[in-house]
Amino acid sequence: MSSTSSFNAEEHQKMLRSYFNGNGFNRWSSIYGNEKLSTVRTTVRQGHAVMMDKAYEWLDQLNLPENSAILDAGCGTGLFSIRLAGNGYKVKAVDIAAQMVDKSREEASAKGVEDRIDFEVSTIESVKGSYDAVVCFDVLIHYPAEGFIEAFKNLSSLTRGPIIFTYAPYNRILALQHWIGGFFPKKERRTTIQMITDENMQKAMKETGMVVKNRKKISFGFYHTMLMHAERK
Ligand SMILES: C[S@@+](CC[C@H](N)C(=O)[O-])C[C@H]1O[C@@H](n2cnc3c(N)ncnc32)[C@H](O)[C@@H]1O
Repeated sequence: MSSTSSFNAEEHQKMLRSYFNGNGFNRWSSIYGNEKLSTVRTTVRQGHAVMMDKAYEWLDQLNLPENSAILDAGCGTGLFSIRLAGNGYKVKAVDIAAQMVDKSREEASAKGVEDRIDFEVSTIESVKGSYDAVVCFDVLIHYPAEGFIEAFKNLSSLTRGPIIFTYAPYNRILALQHWIGGFFPKKERRTTIQMITDENMQKAMKETGMVVKNRKKISFGFYHTMLMHAERK
């Protein structure tokens, strides 16, 4: 495991921005798109869809009023933002990578929901506003504990409602190997998936005054993640 003491937030963001505007954009926009994929990546696409369905189900069960404002932090190609907008929510969609935001906007426009989504190139650490709920999928998995807690503090400060997110729990060595293989090409291995210990998760909850309401392990082929719903006490 990499030590968190040498974590440099600025450098880390720089690396993620560069990856998700380049190789990462190509890789993930194809996984989140419709084109034919390898068997491994097909399972990642399917697992991700299972995760999103479950997350949407949790959100739906909250019966938030129509027009509720939802932040999609690290929106990628906009899959969840577009689904939210199509179901009557007002969405703020932010991503560190301009290429991802452009793609989200293009997809939202094609689906006729762009007027319900406010797009911004921004980060999970610095995005601002006030929302009825925050979602953040497969983004915090790229953060070691120190960065995870800082980003989580910002995201949780933006809502009095739920934050629904995914992370990689510590101690799942096999899953980690799958993650690494499934997510990043060899030369991008620096951007490995970062596992969060229970202790650090408890610390994040304590420091933000949040409690875990629900959690579900999603494992599908080469896609493994923990989906979590937390809310203020
Ligand atoms: C694996 S993709 C997930 C995209 C989307 N949430 C989904 O599940 O379909 C990770 C996304 O997080 C974005 N990202 C990574 N670090 C970020 C940060 N610090 N702030 C905002 N977005 C970030 C990447 O640019 C990328 O679009």
